[in-house]
Amino acid sequence: MIPEGSLLAAHDLRKTYGSTPALDGASFSVHPGEVVAVMGPSGSGKSTLLHCLAGIITPDSGTITYAGRELSAMSDAERSALRRSDFGFVFQFGQLVPELTCVENVALPLRLNGVRRKAAERTALEWMERLEVDDLGSKRPGEVSGGQGQRVAVARALAGSPKVIFADEPTGALDSLNGERVMELLTEAARSANVAVVLVTHEARVAAYSDRDVTVRDGRARDLEHAA
Ligand SMILES: Nc1ncnc2c1ncn2[C@@H]1O[C@H](COP(=O)(O)OP(=O)(O)OP(=O)(O)O)[C@@H](O)[C@H]1O
Ligand SMILES: [Mg+2]
Repeated sequence: MIPEGSLLAAHDLRKTYGSTPALDGASFSVHPGEVVAVMGPSGSGKSTLLHCLAGIITPDSGTITYAGRELSAMSDAERSALRRSDFGFVFQFGQLVPELTCVENVALPLRLNGVRRKAAERTALEWMERLEVDDLGSKRPGEVSGGQGQRVAVARALAGSPKVIFADEPTGALDSLNGERVMELLTEAARSANVAVVLVTHEARVAAYSDRDVTVRDGRARDLEHAA
């Protein structure tokens, strides 16, 4: 049921909103350090799958196992702690805190994990350098471009040393050149740090950066690993 060696695996997830089935028997898995693209038409259940995998929403039925532990067996507090310690997030836009500078934003996951300010900002700047936005440290998110903001968001997702990054349309608001640069830097950094990436995208161009594709249709994930 759980593919061998997987870090995060979901089996037969179902989730209904009113009478709308958002997930209708979806299975999915990702290995440590693997980049998996989740594709499929609008409304097919991609974001719902990602939110279930990240423990943000609870499916009506089915199991999700992370590093040998079932998410449904954890308390809300345990799931929140797991999200802080092991998961990073990149969304389409709007995820940076506007009142904080870029370096403070990137340092935030570390600060929430109890790292002191100086050390957190030093690590944050290292990641910003990798993402080629270290010159934007003292600017606020409202003062940088869309592509720069997404690279700051990627740096923030990586700064907390996560095991998995969940990215929902991370390049959806960018032009193709900026989008490709963000994907290049995200996948390069994730691979070098052995971070798994669950990447939701519409765009084949973006999916080209993945190791493997999974297609979601009508709430069902078609994943070769689960084809049998
Ligand atoms: N909070 C919610 N309340 C009610 N219905 C929802 C909610 N979230 C999602 N849905 C419905 O569940 C289905 C799957 O939605 P989901 O957001 O997962 O699709 P998606 O594949 O991410 O689409 P897109 O590519 O447009 O982002 C859709 O029919 C959607 O309308
Ligand atoms: Mg979506």
